[in-house]
Amino acid sequence: MTSTFKDEVLSRRTFAIISHPDAGKTTLTEQLLLFGGAIRAAGTVKGKKTGKFATSDWMEIEKQRGISVTSSVMQFEYEGFRVNILDTPGHQDFSEDTYRTLMAVDSAVMIIDSAKGIEDQTIKLFKVCRMRGIPIFTFINKLDRQGKAPLELLAELEEVLGIESYPMNWPVGMGKEFLGIYDRYHNRIEQFRVDEKDRFIELDENGEIKGESPIKQSSLYEQALEEVMLLDEAGNEFSKDRIANGTLTPVFFGSALTNFGVQTFLETYLKFAPSPQPRNSNVGMIDPVREDFSGFVFKIQANMNPAHRDRIAFVRICSGKFERGMNVSLSRTGKPMKLSQSTSFLADDRSTVDMAVSGDIIGLYDTGTYQIGDTITSGKEAIQFEKLPQFAPELFVKVTAKNVMKQKSFHKGIVQLVQEGAIQLYKTYRTDDYILGAVGQLQFEVFEHRMKNEYNSDVIMEPIGSKIPRWIEETQVNESLSSSRSLLVKDRFDKPLFLFENDFALRWFQDKNPGIKLSNPME
Ligand code: G4P
Repeated sequence: MTSTFKDEVLSRRTFAIISHPDAGKTTLTEQLLLFGGAIRAAGTVKGKKTGKFATSDWMEIEKQRGISVTSSVMQFEYEGFRVNILDTPGHQDFSEDTYRTLMAVDSAVMIIDSAKGIEDQTIKLFKVCRMRGIPIFTFINKLDRQGKAPLELLAELEEVLGIESYPMNWPVGMGKEFLGIYDRYHNRIEQFRVDEKDRFIELDENGEIKGESPIKQSSLYEQALEEVMLLDEAGNEFSKDRIANGTLTPVFFGSALTNFGVQTFLETYLKFAPSPQPRNSNVGMIDPVREDFSGFVFKIQANMNPAHRDRIAFVRICSGKFERGMNVSLSRTGKPMKLSQSTSFLADDRSTVDMAVSGDIIGLYDTGTYQIGDTITSGKEAIQFEKLPQFAPELFVKVTAKNVMKQKSFHKGIVQLVQEGAIQLYKTYRTDDYILGAVGQLQFEVFEHRMKNEYNSDVIMEPIGSKIPRWIEETQVNESLSSSRSLLVKDRFDKPLFLFENDFALRWFQDKNPGIKLSNPME
């Protein structure tokens, strides 16, 4: 293949931003898109409070609630890089899609609110990134407000997440007294609220300001200098390799809202973030510069356009070049297909894509062909990428059809939505009751909405609360151990598991039945 193809692949940076709601993900994303020229004005990505809806709010339910149900994809170019940001929705919008999106990236940017430190949702998303060993870049946000001491935040990274850190820069003051950042990597000071020209002050070989500068007189500068010395002596060493294998996170301080430290972050991130990485398959690792096109479906979004009831399968390209109209085959069925209907993703537009390479995400119009985890390839060899992990749901409802005469459409809807990966389905032993599991409440709402709109089936959903699922070996199934506190069910692959009412019920069960090995796919 020509070197231009290889250069194209090497220029890709595909990442997701992970954070707890309100840490500043939207604000940072917007600033990044502004740098990349993908949008022209702030407020384009999300305007929920002004009544404007982001263009990623495709689904009707999203419009009703003014939120983004599923992760959208944004692409922009910056200094020769082609950047793909995969959005991971937060809070109530949280779903299995959020987790699966992390299967399609090569790195993650973790935003932490400097006043709040590490929060619940960040922990959950971090664990998934950890599981994949992908590099994680940390942006500690809102330095224009008073927050926790920077050293305390680093300690939290280590204690709560168990990851070592290397601060690429260090705040000089914060909140009302925020003066700027001491940039260890570029050996300069970046001053807060100072014009472009005077913004950067170079440091000498000892890491101190050359010549005179008002900032030099500040005790906050003295303090920052002392802390940086402490980091130099007692902190972790910078290691490109450890960043690449996800055991060391480079940390950047800044303020997304005031666009401070964002450009420095972006440029340094692009330098160290990995280009598209090889992916494991049934025939070994697939190199991103391999000639044959291949990719896998990590998400299916339905009903984007209610007039057409279309679905879009989101495909992460893992090798080769995608060209519109190309012939591929679906590994699961061996079925040949022509990829003529495709879309790429810009924040404010869904435009047709003619060419894309490894690392890029394309959207394929789907009429029910694809399932989550499907591999498509243009090669002769029927490769199949590693199965996407199943994420243990936390919330459960019992579901029945409101109209008993409409069992057929009820079952058809459930089967299709489960196959698509929209929700998890469990069946009780003997009574065959349907139980749905989700990682976020919104998945149930989307399910209910789609059952009605796409399958004309009204459903009754009775919440049965949060549960802790633990899988067991088939040989250990014993229906007499099933109770309301530890309910024995089968998943959609007929694998047995218990749904425990809480931690206490789980421990009690384990004490009573030490011979039963309980497992959790997330661990
Ligand atoms: P999210 O997507 O992670 O949920 O967070 P988002 O960017 O929407 O930011 C949450 C709130 O935090 C917003 O304020 C936003 O303006 C603010 N914020 C983000 N970055 C910074 C920062 O660097 N400094 C300060 N001081 N605030 C920041 P809001 O009042 O909740 O929303 P809005 O009315 O501004 O949209």
